[in-house]
Amino acid sequence: MERLFQIAIDGPAAAGKSTVAKIVSKKLGYVYIDTGAMYRSLTYKALAVGTDLNNGVKLQTLLCETEIILRQSESGQRVFVDGEDVTERIRYPDVTAQVSLVSSFQEVRTEMVRRQRVLAERCNVVMDGRDVGTHVLPKAQVKIFLKASVDERAVRRFKEEELKGRHPSIKSLKEAIALRDKMDMERTASPLVKADDAVEMDTTSLSVEEVVAGILEIVKKRRSI
Ligand code: DC
Repeated sequence: MERLFQIAIDGPAAAGKSTVAKIVSKKLGYVYIDTGAMYRSLTYKALAVGTDLNNGVKLQTLLCETEIILRQSESGQRVFVDGEDVTERIRYPDVTAQVSLVSSFQEVRTEMVRRQRVLAERCNVVMDGRDVGTHVLPKAQVKIFLKASVDERAVRRFKEEELKGRHPSIKSLKEAIALRDKMDMERTASPLVKADDAVEMDTTSLSVEEVVAGILEIVKKRRSI
């Protein structure tokens, strides 16, 4: 039986992973899995019910009682926590500010990775996150590591936030991105790091179309091997 195809897209916050992963998955007809949305979902629930965010065991227990569903729809991926549509809510600043802490615990990561692997068992996938190529899908046929300067990433986030009617300062966005990078790279459990066999793409001065075209080219080559 032919092996399912797996594309892992990792990189720091706001490097453009989800934008390109969505387009690549659509073009190929693969399922898109946003692993960051899963960590955000747990963070949202922990904040809502008042779980101690510094306690990995309590967060793990909360996760075991929590249903997180990523559903593909015409308008893109929708995220449900225990049946509630939290797609927009998990992008709010309170969740963003705490998600690196919540995702730093090994207890949390073990269960998240188990769920992510189950999702990739039946379908061809494009999965984006921080540890997909290094840890979740180490045998992925294509691994991409996207990066961009902090300045460029802050400007991209600023534009996204403006579209949602929020007006943060570029300076505050830069600080928040740099802090999240630091926490994601310095944690002991599966830190953000490029897989040895990942192709690194610096998207600072590339358009979305150029990044997508580059990834599709790599996929084409890998599929013809
Ligand atoms: O991709 P994102 O910004 O939505 O991810 C939110 C946070 O979740 C990120 O700061 C670190 C964590 N995360 C992780 O630890 N591992 C992943 N595979 C995906 C996200």
